[in-house]
Amino acid sequence: MSSDPVVERVREAADIVQIIGEHVKLKRAGSNFRGPCPFHGGKNPNFSVSPKRGQYHCFKCGESGDVFAFLQKQLGMSFPDALRSVAATVGIEVPQQRVERSGPDPRDPFWEMNAVAADYFTRELWDADRGSQARTYLQGRSISRADADRFELGFAPDDIGTFRTHMATMGFDVDRLIEGGLLVRRDENSEPRPRFRNRLMFPILDASGRHVAFGGRALGDAEPKYLNSPETPVFSKSKTLYALGWCKNDIRKVDRVFVVEGYMDAIRLMIAGVNTVVAPLGTALTEQQAGMMVRYTKNVFLLYDSDQAGLKATFRSGDELLRHGCAVRVITLPNGEDPDTFVRANGATALEQQVSQSIDIFERKIQLLERGGWFAELQKKRRALDRLLPTIRATSDPLLRELYIGRAAEKTGIAKGALIREASLTPRGEPRNALHADSSGESVESGDSSSGDNFETGSAPPPDDMQHVRRGDRRRNYDRGAIAAERELVRAMLNDPSRTPGIAEKVDPDTFTDENYRAIFYAMMDLENDFTVERLADRLEPDDVAVLNELLEEGEAQIDPDKTVSASIAVLLMRDIDARLAEIDRMMNLATAPEQDELTKEKLRLHKQVELLGQPAGKSFKFLKRRQPAPTE
Ligand code: UTP
Ligand code: MN
Repeated sequence: MSSDPVVERVREAADIVQIIGEHVKLKRAGSNFRGPCPFHGGKNPNFSVSPKRGQYHCFKCGESGDVFAFLQKQLGMSFPDALRSVAATVGIEVPQQRVERSGPDPRDPFWEMNAVAADYFTRELWDADRGSQARTYLQGRSISRADADRFELGFAPDDIGTFRTHMATMGFDVDRLIEGGLLVRRDENSEPRPRFRNRLMFPILDASGRHVAFGGRALGDAEPKYLNSPETPVFSKSKTLYALGWCKNDIRKVDRVFVVEGYMDAIRLMIAGVNTVVAPLGTALTEQQAGMMVRYTKNVFLLYDSDQAGLKATFRSGDELLRHGCAVRVITLPNGEDPDTFVRANGATALEQQVSQSIDIFERKIQLLERGGWFAELQKKRRALDRLLPTIRATSDPLLRELYIGRAAEKTGIAKGALIREASLTPRGEPRNALHADSSGESVESGDSSSGDNFETGSAPPPDDMQHVRRGDRRRNYDRGAIAAERELVRAMLNDPSRTPGIAEKVDPDTFTDENYRAIFYAMMDLENDFTVERLADRLEPDDVAVLNELLEEGEAQIDPDKTVSASIAVLLMRDIDARLAEIDRMMNLATAPEQDELTKEKLRLHKQVELLGQPAGKSFKFLKRRQPAPTE
C-alpha cells in the first residue's frame, strides 16, 4: 500500500461501491456488496466489495485490490489516471508531481520520440522556405495558424537525411526510430528513410494526451492519401481514437459524442467549438474503440460520409455500439458533403440542426431498405430481415431490442414471435449458444454474399477498408476444403496479380471465411495495377502480413496453376450454393403457397448446378466457362 498521504486520502474518501457499481451490478450482502466478477467473467456473485476496507475481492479467481487497482484493471487506466479520476469524484486535488509513476515505463522513449518528432514537424511547417507549400495547403483548407498550433499540425519534408540527423542529436537511434515507425528500411541493406515524406502531419495523442503516432496527409495526389504510423509499442490503431484526448472531458460533460471518419472532420468540428468528437483511424469503430467511448458517454451520433463506404462503416460501428449498450443515432449530411465541408460552410449551428434531425440507427436501416424496395416481396423480405437481424442481435439493451423487434415485425409483416426466434438463432440456423457467447450479428451481414452490404442496389459491396473490421466475429461454417480453396486463390493472385480482377468477378471476397485471406484479397483488389508486395503489406495488419509471407514463400502452385484456380472457384461457388439452399429451407416457413413453388423451383435449379459443380475438376472448369464467357476452352 502506498504511503503517499494524498493517495490515502483519496482512497478513504472514495465511494468504492459507487465506482465499481458503474461497471458491475452489485447487490448488498450484509455489510459488503456482491456481484458477478468482471475479471474472470463469471455469472455468479463471487465478487465482493467491502466499503469498510475499501477493497474488492473475487472468491473464484482471486483478483483483489483497492479502487485504483479496479480502475487500472477494468479500464486499462494508468495509476495516475485512476488516482486523478477517483480524486475528481471526491473533490480532492492531486498535485501533478504526486502522480509520477513509481518506476520508468519502457514506453517512455516512444512517447517522447513522437513528441520530439511532432515538434520537429511543426518547426518545418513554419520554416519560411521549407514549409511554404504545406502552409498554402493549410490555407486552402481554411486552417489558421492558431488552429494548426492547437492541433500541433506539422510538415514532414521530402528530404531523407535531416529528420534522422535531428532525431539522432535528440538521442534516438535508428533502431528505436524504426521500431517507433518513424523510419523504414526498404530491405536489409538499404538506408532507413523517414516513413513520412512531403506530408502534412497530424500527431495522434492517446486519451491521456501522450504522443503515440502520426497521420500524414499527402499534399498532392500521392497514395495513400493518409499514411498512419504502423503498430508500435505505444500505438495500436484499433485501440486509438483521434481527438479523444482533447474531447474526453466535454464528451463526459455534454454526455454525447460525434463519430467522424477523418482527421480533418474532427479538427473542423473542434475549430467550430464542438469539442465532443472522435475519429477512428480509417475504419469503422472497433470493439475496443467502442469500449473506450462508453466510458465517457453512451449517446453516440454517427457522422460518416454518405457514400457506400460511409454507410458500411455507419452500420458496422452502429452494431458495435449497440453491443456496448449505446443509443446510436445517424446524421445524414447533404449529398457530397462531409463533416469538414459541411461545418466549414454552415457552422456549428447547422450541425446542431442536423442533430435534431438525426434518426436512430435501426430506423435508418429500415429507411434504406424501404427505399430499395426490400420489403416489397418475399424473396427480398427475407434478405431485408437478414440485414435487420444482426442489428437486433447486437443490441444488448433489452428494451431497445424489444423495440427493434417490434419495428421489424411491423415492417416485414412477420409475427414478433417468429422474429424473436430468428433473432436467437445464428445465421445458419443453429441456436445462438452453439457459437461463442457474444456471437455477433455481423456474420449474417457479411457472411451472406446474397444479402451483401449494399443498400442502393443489389450489386456487390465495394471493396474498401471498412470491410475488415471486427474480423474475429465472422463465424460461419468452417469448411476445410473451402478454406484451402481460399488459400489457393490468394496464392494464385499473389503470383500473378493480373488474375485478381477475374477471380474477384467470380468470387465475392466477403464470402471468404479466413480473415487473413480475405484481407489480402481485398487489399489486392484495392491495389489493382499499383500492386507491389510492399504496398500490399502496408495495407495489412501484422497477422495478415505473416500469412502473406507464408504464401509468397510457397510460390506458384506446382502442377497446373490455372486449373487450381478454376477448381478452387468451383469449391467456393459450391459453398455459396449450399448456403443459398439452406436459406431457402428457412424461407419456406415464411412463404405463401405460390412463393413456395418459386422457392422449390429455385432449389431444383441450384441442385442442377451442384451436380455440375460436383463433378471432377475438369468438368466444373467447363461449367465455369459456360457461365462466364472466358478465353477459349
Ligand atoms: P477520407 O478519404 O474520407 O478523407 O478518409 P478525408 O478525411 O475526407 O480527407 P480529406 O478531407 O480529403 O483530407 C477518412 C479517413 O480515413 C483514413 C483517414 O483517417 C481519413 O481521415 N484514411 C483515408 C486512411 O487512413 N488512409 C487513406 O488512404 C484514406
Ligand atoms: Mn474530407
